[in-house]
Amino acid sequence: MILVTGGAGFIGGNFVLDWLKEPKAEGIVNLDKLTYAGNLATLDSVRNDPRHVFVQGDIGDHALVSRLLKEHQPRAIINFAAESHVDRSIHGPAEFVQTNIDGTFNLLECGRAYWNDLDEVKKAAFRFHHVSTDEVYGSLSASDPAFTETNPYEPNSPYSASKAASDHLVRAWFHTYGFPVLTSNCSNNYGPYHFPEKLIPLVILNALNGKPLPIYGDGQQVRDWLFVSDHCSAIREVLAKGKLGETYNIGGWNEKANIDVVKTICQILDGLRPRADGKSYAEQITFVKDRLGHDRRYAIDASKIARELDWKPKETFDSGIQKTVQWYLDNPVWVEGVVSGSYRDWLQKQYN
Ligand code: NAD
Ligand code: DAU
Repeated sequence: MILVTGGAGFIGGNFVLDWLKEPKAEGIVNLDKLTYAGNLATLDSVRNDPRHVFVQGDIGDHALVSRLLKEHQPRAIINFAAESHVDRSIHGPAEFVQTNIDGTFNLLECGRAYWNDLDEVKKAAFRFHHVSTDEVYGSLSASDPAFTETNPYEPNSPYSASKAASDHLVRAWFHTYGFPVLTSNCSNNYGPYHFPEKLIPLVILNALNGKPLPIYGDGQQVRDWLFVSDHCSAIREVLAKGKLGETYNIGGWNEKANIDVVKTICQILDGLRPRADGKSYAEQITFVKDRLGHDRRYAIDASKIARELDWKPKETFDSGIQKTVQWYLDNPVWVEGVVSGSYRDWLQKQYN
């Protein structure tokens, strides 16, 4: 078995589905608290798969995590569970500290106690993979080189600060206790099952619903976009071949300004689902108040993982965004399930 945390969320959910597509794959214990971002509908297709054991619970629950490790004897823990949305961290940072820092601390401690008791062969094979973000490196100017694994940590938001803190704990557990950790720092993901508080799914759904497409500030902030299944394949490579204690940057080599991402989505929708009045969805673009402390540019140099683990992304932005828009058009039932009351409350709070 492997223990996956946060496997009902966007990336964790995609990881579970991709992993179980392989008929000979080991089973997964999936521990997820089912916050607003956790969605069991994402896991519908593996509902009856005996290799998938779903457990609702908190990564910060010491008794629960210890019991799951003892019962299922996983050979690895992959930690996706987190509060992940920067805007929410600005409105209410407490949960970010609790889950991202305290929760990771608890997983490390439970994992270390479990690992200490394993026999030598299992001990040598065990891995703790921590899934982190490029945001820990801070913000780049237009001319700065992309982030490498040796960039200093300069987190700017409550979210990125909490992720940076968790990365430091993971690093220290390796250095101090020899706990066998791996860390990956990834750029912006997009693709199926993405919760529509994030830019790409928000724009797709707002466009289709005739609502404004909100662009923060001048829309010239740059992100490096990675199709989610590419992130999942990179994590599998790091888990299988990564060097203990190392960090690996994962990115798509797809730097785009936000305004260009939104215009591309509008163009695709103009082709696939034209507006009744014949005008472009781009007419719905609206510039709104900027995010507090908004980081200007992120860019990932993913050459270490290419060189050492022979991984590179399969999707370009053009192919990935086309698939993503099509997925949202093809999956109205999942979308309807997600657009719940609590999500509508969030939109009201954030965009007034
Ligand atoms: P998400 O918000 O979609 O999902 C997070 C999942 O974690 C949810 O299912 C939620 O219910 C669960 N969760 C939250 N708190 C929990 C707790 N205390 N105990 C157990 N489960 C809990 O997030 P995501 O976008 O899938 O991101 C997954 C991971 O990848 C996060 O660690 C995030 O920091 C990192 N990451 C995300 C991106 C991105 O672009 N989305 C990029 C780089 C790194
Ligand atoms: O870089 C990796 C990070 O990417 C992950 O660690 C985070 O978990 C993930 O949420 C994501 O963070 P961002 O803040 O970059 O993603 P978001 O989709 O919220 O915003 C992308 C860009 O679009 C950002 O510059 C803010 C802008 N934006 C976002 C929203 C929701 C808008 O202009 N309008 C919006 O309505």
